[in-house]
Amino acid sequence: MSRKKYMLGNWKMNHGLEEIDNFLSDLDSPSSFNCFWGIAPQAIHILRMIKAKKRSPNLKVGSQNCSENDFGAFTGELAVQTLVEAGVDFTLAGHSERRSLYSESDELINAKVIKAQSENLLPVFCLGETLEERDSGKMENVLEGQLLSGLKNVDSKNIVIAYEPVWAIGTGKTATPEQADEAHAFIRKVITEKLDWDANKISILYGGSVKPANVVELLGKENIDGALVGGASLTGASFSALCKAASN
Ligand code: PGA
Repeated sequence: MSRKKYMLGNWKMNHGLEEIDNFLSDLDSPSSFNCFWGIAPQAIHILRMIKAKKRSPNLKVGSQNCSENDFGAFTGELAVQTLVEAGVDFTLAGHSERRSLYSESDELINAKVIKAQSENLLPVFCLGETLEERDSGKMENVLEGQLLSGLKNVDSKNIVIAYEPVWAIGTGKTATPEQADEAHAFIRKVITEKLDWDANKISILYGGSVKPANVVELLGKENIDGALVGGASLTGASFSALCKAASN
């Protein structure tokens, strides 16, 4: 079964207008990228990236976060309806930095995923274990808990999952392709057996220190359908290399 390949950049709280212009002018032959490729910039630059679709119509633009609420008195939040109206294609939900730095719970993340789906915004649901959890043999329990709470009552037809072991994010320590593939296979097993989803149709991305030097090996694994990339998505040259690897 061949699933669509994804290459998504998460810029986190990086890049001003000048860096964005440099990124866009350094993209190498984007018209040849044959995958779902996109960037989630800081919220204030979402419209700038959407403008770039004029030159690169296949560029997808994402939000790093969204509110679980409808419009209203929620200072500092981003309404899903507004993101969709602006032309945003996907939103991250449950990134480990949101979970750990902003105390987002599984229940909140679940509400965000459901809200995004209700407006036809593609949620990229992130999950992953810490090093301590992995080392103490709790990885499977942690992943299963995150999946069952985060994906409760979620529609399997409009979602992407991103496995991002916390110990590999921004640390330069990548999971080996075997470790990542094994975790992805476990995720497929849980969503098949416990959620009754057709796991063959669900794209699961790997995230955590992905770069041009390791992407080919990671994407070569049966259960890895793409990557969610932080640091190595910041320059046009590096991100182009990643998108090319996902296009083969
Ligand atoms: P990294 O970040 O590629 O810099 O490790 C990945 C992520 O946080 O999505």
